Amino acid sequence: MFATGQPVTHEFPNLHASSHPLVAHNLTELTDERTSSRAFRVLVRRLTTLLIYEATAHLALAGTTYRTPMEPATGGRMSERIGLVPILRAGLGMVEPALDALPDAEVWHLGLYRDETTKQPVSYYNRLPERCPDDRIFILDPMLATGGSASDAVDVVKAWGAPAITFIGLIAAPEGVVRMLERHPDVPLYVAALHRQLDEHAFILPGLGDAGDRQFGTG
Ligand code: PRP
Repeated sequence: MFATGQPVTHEFPNLHASSHPLVAHNLTELTDERTSSRAFRVLVRRLTTLLIYEATAHLALAGTTYRTPMEPATGGRMSERIGLVPILRAGLGMVEPALDALPDAEVWHLGLYRDETTKQPVSYYNRLPERCPDDRIFILDPMLATGGSASDAVDVVKAWGAPAITFIGLIAAPEGVVRMLERHPDVPLYVAALHRQLDEHAFILPGLGDAGDRQFGTG
């Protein structure tokens, strides 16, 4: 029903699943069980770079005039102040490539893990200052499974005062997309692919296993 790399935006109004062949190619490598942690980290970086490119396509620019070495010119500079909120642990691998593309962004860390029995997210770390200084927040987490972690993270970031929020992930399950649509319909989800479903342990199928363990060699 949901094929990797096929555009599925029409299925869910909040979902932007990439249709780019480079994304599909790298995602196939990423999800292959034979991929080592070392290669996995490189692929997370590469996919994040590609997804940041897609997720920032509509960022606001301020017009500016300046000079090239040849003559006066007009151009555009980023006018929004951007914050990155990686969800620990697995979101950590997405920070550096996001900063490569958005070098002036601030990074605010949130720690959430999913309890293996209840499947509910548990918050264990929050380094957000009192007020959100940014115009737009990108939440970074490779996996949207039940959507519990992402929707709790959005709760926190909204309560913090973030004016606009975008989620960037690698793989989403329909269950998580629906949960986000119900709780946070204003938050667009940019992912590499929508996968088929969750299994009885709330792992994504076909999925990639545990993104944190595969990045950090702890599985
Ligand atoms: C994974 C993943 C998400 C969450 C997704 O993290 O990185 O944060 O689970 O599941 P959900 O949509 O059902 O909430 P995990 O709890 O394994 O922690 P880790 O990043 O420390 O490995």
